[in-house]
Amino acid sequence: MTRPFPDDLLGLPHRRDVPFARLTTLGVGGLCRWLFEPTTEAEAQAFVRACVREGLPWRVLGGGSNLVVLGDVETPVLRLAFPKLVQREGSELTAPASHGHIALAEAATQAGLSGLEFASGIPGSLGGAIRMNAGAYGREWVDVLTRFRFLTPEGELVERAPEPGDFRYRGSFLTAGHVVLSATARLATSDPETIRAQVAEYRAKRGTSQPLSRRNAGCIFKNPPGQSAGRLIDAAGLKGLRVGDAEVSPEHANFLVNHGQATAAQFAELMERVRSRVLELHGVELEPEVEIWRD
Ligand code: EPU
Repeated sequence: MTRPFPDDLLGLPHRRDVPFARLTTLGVGGLCRWLFEPTTEAEAQAFVRACVREGLPWRVLGGGSNLVVLGDVETPVLRLAFPKLVQREGSELTAPASHGHIALAEAATQAGLSGLEFASGIPGSLGGAIRMNAGAYGREWVDVLTRFRFLTPEGELVERAPEPGDFRYRGSFLTAGHVVLSATARLATSDPETIRAQVAEYRAKRGTSQPLSRRNAGCIFKNPPGQSAGRLIDAAGLKGLRVGDAEVSPEHANFLVNHGQATAAQFAELMERVRSRVLELHGVELEPEVEIWRD
């Protein structure tokens, strides 16, 4: 189906029929029929406003590192393509939401600013990390976030500090039509060598416990309160369970990996098998931590 989009929407930078295999770290999914890639905040705002006016839904894509796409997507997809500029003011860093998350952590290290070490192994875009309140090793974005800019689902541009209730474990209000535009982190000046040592320690830890050599989408399920999804899946004996080229990682049971030719349907089936087996054995309902898109 081809949607007749209005001229102002089609005047924004966009590409047609881009495979989600190229837009996601898991490397599966159908075609992104309409990929809009604004290079300025004004273009992003024009996109949202045009969609609102036309009554069109839209989806927001970041680095595609936490996403499983089932089939083709006709819904217009917004992926920011802002210049990757990091601004420093004292010990604060501001970056556009489209900036690479790991690259931002590296920029902080180089600037001798401590506080984003936890982010050094979390892939994706800064916007995705803010939206998910990404975290690792007991730290999360809300700990360092001082200000952020976003578009509301109505296309209004807002800049403000986080408020109580904005962020929670792996979640925020910035879903369903919100678009994160940029974020500012309050960091602490430190010695780059000390920061590097902490980053290296996290990397080593992650490297021995997570399957970094195969395509994956990070942790697939959320940790149920007080429990570990990885431990529950492991204890259910599911490591190595395979549907085609999709496998429960033998290294970390809460990671599903793509051995090369896996399909989105195989991942969906594998997730369902894991979910139902864990429910049967442990009586715990696992919830996806990854986002799942189907049109
Ligand atoms: N465990 C097992 N078997 C496994 C995997 C883990 O028994 O196959 C056990 C571990 O031995 C440990 C416990 O489960 O006792 C927790 O494991 P781990 O330390 O690996 O942490 P996690 O809770 O599985 C969380 C985040 C990760 C983040 C790490 C490190 C979630 C869902 N996961 O994993 O985030 O990298 O802590 O801080 O919150 C992600 O968000 O995509 C992600 C990978």
